Amino acid sequence: MSDSSKPPFRSRQWFGREGKQGFYYRSWLKGLGLPHDLFDGRPVIGICNTWSELTPCNSSLRELAEHVKRGVYEAGGFPLEFPVMSLGETQIRPTAMLFRNLASMEAEESIRANPIDGVVLLMGCDKTTPSLLMGAASVDLPTIGVSAGPSLSGNWRGKPLGSGTGVIEMSEMVRAGTLSQDEFTEAESCMQRSTGSCMTMGTASTMASMVEALGMSLPENAAIPAVDARRFRLAHLSGRRIVEMVREDLRMSRILTRAAFANAIRANAAIGGSTNAVIHLLAIAGRLGVELSLDDWDALGSRLPCLVNLKPSGEYLMEDFCYAGGLPAVLREIAAQLDLDAITANGRTLGENIAQAPCWNREVIRPLAQPVRAEAGIAVLRGNLAPDGAVIKPSAASPQLLRHRGRAVVFESIEEFKARIDDEALDIDETCVMVLKNCGPRGYPGMAEVGNMPLPPKLLRRGVTDLVRISDARMSGTAYGTVVLHVSPEAATGGPLALVREGDFIELDVPGRRLHLDVDEAELARRRAEWTAPPAPARGWSKLYVDHVQQAHLGADLDFLVGGSGDAVGRDSH
Ligand code: FES
Repeated sequence: MSDSSKPPFRSRQWFGREGKQGFYYRSWLKGLGLPHDLFDGRPVIGICNTWSELTPCNSSLRELAEHVKRGVYEAGGFPLEFPVMSLGETQIRPTAMLFRNLASMEAEESIRANPIDGVVLLMGCDKTTPSLLMGAASVDLPTIGVSAGPSLSGNWRGKPLGSGTGVIEMSEMVRAGTLSQDEFTEAESCMQRSTGSCMTMGTASTMASMVEALGMSLPENAAIPAVDARRFRLAHLSGRRIVEMVREDLRMSRILTRAAFANAIRANAAIGGSTNAVIHLLAIAGRLGVELSLDDWDALGSRLPCLVNLKPSGEYLMEDFCYAGGLPAVLREIAAQLDLDAITANGRTLGENIAQAPCWNREVIRPLAQPVRAEAGIAVLRGNLAPDGAVIKPSAASPQLLRHRGRAVVFESIEEFKARIDDEALDIDETCVMVLKNCGPRGYPGMAEVGNMPLPPKLLRRGVTDLVRISDARMSGTAYGTVVLHVSPEAATGGPLALVREGDFIELDVPGRRLHLDVDEAELARRRAEWTAPPAPARGWSKLYVDHVQQAHLGADLDFLVGGSGDAVGRDSH
């Protein structure tokens, strides 16, 4: 099956062996019922699966893997499926992000250590996508991504109910006294109507869109619902295609160039994507040695409009996005901003893929001339409160708060926030700035999604719907508000955020890209001298993580995981 003019596939180091070692490599696999001719030199395709019942968003991936296998067999490949750590956003404590780098290590070592020539990444829930991309990038084999796809649109009492976004809205209504607990509980059964990832433009949909915009999947990967037959067809075709990619030696590093990342950043603006994409793309680029910085997000994407009218920035849901044309239609709309020569997983350029992409609904995917929001990409803020940067998603913010000066109401931890926020005596009004500390990569640890702090009930009852909020945390992609996130350096490392005190004044100027703590340097120096670091974990993964995690502006990867080790393993199994 192999082309004699090319070097043998990597898997021949296992299956092409004579003697005792070759016997070992083949014999146990034959115990699965596999015939001898599968070991004849055809491409071996690893199907890296994050299926888990504890990750309901990915629970269709077992079935999806079978469709991938059909395609692999049809194209003359030999598929072998294997599991890696699955990170379910809704169940894992204290935050799935604490384990993104651990799962990436597992994916990397599983791919490298086994007789695999090409990889299909099956992913869906938020962290499962970056963890697999990061791990696979450090091995750099031919690789294609297939996302689980979004769940069907939620619907409660005849109205659309978006994953995450609807929960946040309704829980604020319960706290304001305008929705009963019984109604809230009833809505629980009406939101996730099928398997699949969150069907708002949250982090999972954003990352599936990033996979497609980067060129790491076949076109239309981002939006086809998880239970739509077209999702299974896409998996089938991806199985066929990965075999060709191995034969073409089309490795990840040829697809994931700086141009591909620039395309993804611009696409993120046009879809109104999650701020979490910032951290994940920085980390993926770091594994490949691609030059990408936090400032690239602002320089490349911030002036672009949001065209996709999806919650949390707009009105519709992922199913609507699929029927309207999905990501190809969006990319065609912003084609003038993209590097159309970027090569993608199907072997064609991005420009070829989107040249004829139709749009069927201009309410869901707006034309450039009628955007949902102008200048909607991620804005990067700097100032004495965030010397290494902070981010805000203007498309999810209140326009009147994008320039604001207010009195700080400070919470030293998320626990303190929860203990105080419902207190009617809390000294806060709508002009205040809520500040949350010690929720960054080291401080939480794991950088929790708590940056969109719920508002105090007494303000909600008065109809206040947004306040400026600042933290070193992340925010769920399904959340919204004037929320400054990822403040770097974080409070737990002694960054300026650690020095903010109740009653200080803070200036936010998003158009001017400024975040300023109105306290003089002498006073800040006094506070710095008094500061002591919070306690750190003493053992296990949390200790390894805290000892090595980088700050948010660098992608929050572990310092020793940046870069890659390629696919070579110098020794036999012993
Ligand atoms: Fe899994 Fe949103 S919780 S995708």
